Amino acid sequence: MAGVSESPFRRLCRRFGADVVVTEFLSAEAIRRENQATLAKLRFGADERPIGVQIFGSDPAGMGEAAALVTEVFEPEFIDINFGCPVKKVVKRNGGSGCLKDLDLVQSVIRSVIAHTHLPVTVKIRSGWSEEMRDPVKIALRCQDAGATALALHPRTRTQMYSGSARWEEIAAVAQALDIPVIGNGDIKTAEDAVRLQRETGCAAVMIARGSFGQPWIFDQTRALLEGKPKPAAPPVAERFAIAMEHARMAEQYEPDLRGAAIEFRKHLGWYVKGLPHAAEMKKRLFAVQSFSEIEDIFDEYLRAGGDNVELTSDSRELVPAEV
Ligand SMILES: Cc1cc2nc3c(=O)[nH]c(=O)nc-3n(C[C@H](O)[C@H](O)[C@H](O)COP(=O)(O)O)c2cc1C
Repeated sequence: MAGVSESPFRRLCRRFGADVVVTEFLSAEAIRRENQATLAKLRFGADERPIGVQIFGSDPAGMGEAAALVTEVFEPEFIDINFGCPVKKVVKRNGGSGCLKDLDLVQSVIRSVIAHTHLPVTVKIRSGWSEEMRDPVKIALRCQDAGATALALHPRTRTQMYSGSARWEEIAAVAQALDIPVIGNGDIKTAEDAVRLQRETGCAAVMIARGSFGQPWIFDQTRALLEGKPKPAAPPVAERFAIAMEHARMAEQYEPDLRGAAIEFRKHLGWYVKGLPHAAEMKKRLFAVQSFSEIEDIFDEYLRAGGDNVELTSDSRELVPAEV
């Protein structure tokens, strides 16, 4: 997820039981031109593997070139093509879900990427461009026909952006129609939701996006439930803060611009403390941090004031509205 699933968060998610992680979507054009900011986002550690690098673009040749560079230089386990991003500046050049208006283009992009890498190539799609063009099974079959190794479906259209609900029955229909593994995505807020999605749709895997914000332990919980074991409790507050601090320290090491990184990190802090009682004052301070060193004191003060006497569950959280 753009601006969220950077290397430090991916490492944390892997440690908390995610089987596979994927980079945020990266512009093929920027990769091809060796844009330094984009290449920096391609860096990942050995503890993130297995990892996919996700690329987007509507020029088949450029996508192929980017795939070749990613394969040669970064050697992830697979390349994922983004046909789902709804953001205006991406779709206006037919990138992301913009491609879904032209399924011949979708196939050309997939074929070109496959021709330029020996790695498996997966795709992430939405259910269509618009309500009128909504046809996830047709889109998915075209992706399979072009050679995709696996397909993830977020069953909303581009025009829906993030409104309404993800239509899980479309995941079931696609899983039924395809021979390749189908990964179900959309509106998983809890481990129970993930299990329900898997059981209701028969998908091969589940993809959790916003449900992991501030609670990477959702992966451990999901794994336990899928294996028929009891769900581990969400960590108590002090441990939750320790996890947030571990995340912060990784971000501090990873990012060259420390002040910018601390400011960017505020959103994670907001997610980690979401739902905590009497947290208004702490939140205000966390949203104002200018450096990583300020964070620990703020947490300590909350704990000293008795905040760690609270038991938390992760079951009542709402998904944060998407910013992109
Ligand atoms: C902040 C944000 C950034 C996202 N960035 C990406 C991205 O780079 N690539 C991608 O395939 N999906 C991206 N998504 C979409 C999610 O992967 C997912 O399909 C969508 O949020 C629905 O799943 P959820 O209900 O589990 O969040 C992003 C979503 C959010 C909220």
